[in-house]
Amino acid sequence: MIIVLYGVTGCGKTTIGALLSAQLNVPFYDGDHFHPVANKQKMNAGIPLTDEDRIPWLKNIAGNMISWEKQGGAVLACSALNEKYRKILKVVPQIHWVLLQGSKSLIKSRLASRIGHFMNPALLDSQMDTLEIPDYGWKVSVKMKPENVVEEITKKLSTMESKSEIGIIGMGVMGKNLALNLADHQTSLSIYNRHLPGKEEKVAQKVLEANPGLSQVRAFGQLKPFMESLQSPKKVLMMIPAGEVIDHQIDELLPFMNPGDLLVDGGNSNYKDTNTRSRFLKEKDLLFVGMGVSGGEEGARFGPSLMPGGDQQGFLQVAPFLEKIAAKDFKGKACITYVGPEGAGHFVKMVHNSIEYGEMQAIAEVYYLMRHYLALPMEEIAANFESWMDSDMSNYLLEITIDILRKKEAGEPLLDKILDQAAQKGTGGWSVATALEYGVPYGVLTEAVMARNLSARKPFRMIAAGLYTPEKISGIEGKEAFLDKLQAAYQATRIINHDAGFSLMLEVSEKNNWNLNFSEIARVWTNGCIIRSRLMEELVDLFQENNRILLNYEAVTALKGYQNDLSYVVGQALQHGFSVPLLSSAINYFLGAITADSSANLIQAQRDYFGAHTYQRIDADSGEHFHTEWKAK
Ligand code: 6PG
Repeated sequence: MIIVLYGVTGCGKTTIGALLSAQLNVPFYDGDHFHPVANKQKMNAGIPLTDEDRIPWLKNIAGNMISWEKQGGAVLACSALNEKYRKILKVVPQIHWVLLQGSKSLIKSRLASRIGHFMNPALLDSQMDTLEIPDYGWKVSVKMKPENVVEEITKKLSTMESKSEIGIIGMGVMGKNLALNLADHQTSLSIYNRHLPGKEEKVAQKVLEANPGLSQVRAFGQLKPFMESLQSPKKVLMMIPAGEVIDHQIDELLPFMNPGDLLVDGGNSNYKDTNTRSRFLKEKDLLFVGMGVSGGEEGARFGPSLMPGGDQQGFLQVAPFLEKIAAKDFKGKACITYVGPEGAGHFVKMVHNSIEYGEMQAIAEVYYLMRHYLALPMEEIAANFESWMDSDMSNYLLEITIDILRKKEAGEPLLDKILDQAAQKGTGGWSVATALEYGVPYGVLTEAVMARNLSARKPFRMIAAGLYTPEKISGIEGKEAFLDKLQAAYQATRIINHDAGFSLMLEVSEKNNWNLNFSEIARVWTNGCIIRSRLMEELVDLFQENNRILLNYEAVTALKGYQNDLSYVVGQALQHGFSVPLLSSAINYFLGAITADSSANLIQAQRDYFGAHTYQRIDADSGEHFHTEWKAK
């Protein structure tokens, strides 16, 4: 914990800081000592410091704050006059901001009696003008004697210490594991789960009972005491199912929230709902962050990938806590980034899931061909996938698939006992709807959703199978050669999947002025999340040069190499009775995307024929429209 005493020159930061540090038995640092000589000379001459003077000075202090926090905390005296400056200092999770306030005349009289300080008293006016008073932290009057100011601050601190830094609502798999992760990182927490008689009873208390070492966690089954247990401004993370449940929960929380409090929705909410909620809560002066959380149970417990969007001020309040618990990328940086305004965080998570659907379907189709076209035993399929993991195809979903294929029950593969009806909770379908709304070609990832829809029609499929008795021809010659082609087809499909997902983000970002940073999004997806992969690591660099994967030089080289194999695999699969919707859609989209002169001229002519919709000509100015009487007279 760092206590920052801030305010204009002469407000008593140094005197009060020294007394407070002695009382709390933590070191005291005076921001003035970190000024370079040039800054001190300027201030001595009565010349106000500029941003150029202050920013390096504040960055230097911020760097030191990280070590002070590790060494057990400190009291810092620093003017930190406006939000821009304070933001630079917000580098540790727990800062107590204490603004020392006094009238101009009081401070002027104190400055007049101050001797031996480099600061020219004439600077008070400019400092008063620069001072921005935030709506967080404590404001203490310096009219009192310094001893009394210190007493007031220590009183506030002891009340604060009995309260939690963050509250988490919802002790399902994700909520519970995020709570344990935060607790591991020395965050004091209040956890809450609703009480539903006979269904959800003492859920939060049971989390504590199952994890007896959690000294900084308090459990609640009632909302009021839970909210009262939080430090102000309150920071509440909701980890509950998407949909109306969120609105209901917000309604219940409102009576316990004050302006400046923060709500974070960490579920898989529809980004449009998050847009609406952001506006609703803004009207009430509450901060709202819609945050995508990826990585499932293990990610939540040991390092998720986090995609927060919405109020940037709100994000900054929780960023230091979240950075500690997030997964780390290959350079050790936390897999979290502020994505953009309103529902941008949930939008990005939605597209993550859409790519996830595509990646899962691609593996499923490739597995199925190995199993039933090549008639390979389960272990051989697992071994093939394992060898792919040594290449640039390595990815988390393939890795878990190997474990799945090897899982046995009574000596038989467990996979063979699982009903082939795939479920979904919404994000894949919402992405398809968004692609339609924005006119983005999205066939490939759409097929991943449609394949799940078709799989769900098991009874229908069983009747149809009986009627058509489709022949699936297996055991082809040249197994090794086909496996090589399958590997290439798989990687080509993956590149195309990612191109579709990122193209959707590009379109929506441009239309909404969200300025999504694709390199940064890819970086946040290099670890912790379900679609982490070596390809994603390559995309971090690729997006620094080009926002379109397919137009990137490396992608062009790779896809030129893979293209024929993907076509071959799809052709073989279809001719031998195997449905490969994602792989076929991938090659179709790819071939369409690299066709400069397409068949759409005929579509335009047909539209003009029956509906006089007009068309443009390649030999006329763009924007000029033509109509033809097509019928032969
Ligand atoms: C993740 C996952 C996670 C979950 C989704 C998808 O990133 O950790 O995407 O959020 O798996 O809810 O679930 P469905 O397949 O049920 O839509």
